[in-house]
Amino acid sequence: MSLPGRALARILPYVPKSVAGLAARRYIAGETLEDGIDTAATLSQQGFRTTLDLLGEDTTNREHARRALDGYQRTLEAIEARGIDGNVSVKPTQFGLRVDPKLCLELFQTLADEARRLGHFVRVEMEDSSVTDRTLALFRQLRRDFENVGLVLQSCLRRTASDLEGLLDLSPNVRVVKGVYVEPSALAWQDRQTIRDRFVALSETLIGHGSFVAFATHDDYLIDHALRLVAEHGVPPSTYEFQMLLGVRPEIGKRVLDSGHPVRIYVPFGSDWHRYSMRRLRENPRIAGYVVRSLLTGR
Ligand code: FDA
Repeated sequence: MSLPGRALARILPYVPKSVAGLAARRYIAGETLEDGIDTAATLSQQGFRTTLDLLGEDTTNREHARRALDGYQRTLEAIEARGIDGNVSVKPTQFGLRVDPKLCLELFQTLADEARRLGHFVRVEMEDSSVTDRTLALFRQLRRDFENVGLVLQSCLRRTASDLEGLLDLSPNVRVVKGVYVEPSALAWQDRQTIRDRFVALSETLIGHGSFVAFATHDDYLIDHALRLVAEHGVPPSTYEFQMLLGVRPEIGKRVLDSGHPVRIYVPFGSDWHRYSMRRLRENPRIAGYVVRSLLTGR
């Protein structure tokens, strides 16, 4: 991690909320469900798929976890009502995974049931390594009853190839990412190229097993690799997609979409945006550089 990155990450939490909001505006649809849905509707009209993320994580209060479920149910209803090509992405700790795994499972089951009724899909996100085992167990339990749930796997973690082997019997629908959490070298590769190589290897395993794979990256190297993989293996568009974050390198998403590949944009929204952004900064000071650049250049 560069020294300027660390220094910036320490300073940014003291930037006034109104100024931080200017930088965040590009990456977050807004504070309300309506903001999230409007952004998703616009993207949908442009031909993108979307996934909505109601910001929130690390819930320690059961009532807050239930409220998050309610927010996601209303999100699914709005997606349906507006005819948006969209689904939802949920962080397990937002549904109370750290404090009550049983409640977390129940809330996911309720959401997956509602999503199935409406013909939609729920993505279980992957958080830091302290909850990897619990998240995998949660996904396995959910998959017993629901086809319309998928998982995220992080290529930076040393354990992930073996985790994937253990999941292949479920034909999992997987979003492959590098991993956004800062992890110790005992658990995670730190070298950029190794993390890329692992990303490619995971994608190849999924394609080889006919599983749905979502390549979630803005890295040109990985996007080019994924495009080659898809072409070489003749992967049908029904079993893969690219995924990118709202506001991050939008020109790349457009280019991939225009060349005929499905692209899903991740649309975060909610009143928790400031806490979320600051936590991300503390966890990964590299992001501080992006935020400062966007504050200075407005891009
Ligand atoms: P890399 O970090 O090398 O970025 C490539 C280029 O993209 C950079 O040079 C920069 O130009 C640009 N860029 C990347 N991130 C940016 C940002 N925030 N702002 C501005 N520019 C940026 N992680 C996780 O641990 N669990 C999860 O569940 C998810 N979910 C998820 C969903 C989706 C749709 C995406 C795209 C990503 C995630 N991630 C995630 C995050 C992921 O692990 C990873 O941290 C980011 O995608 C950044 O890695 P890249 O592969 O894009 O490469």
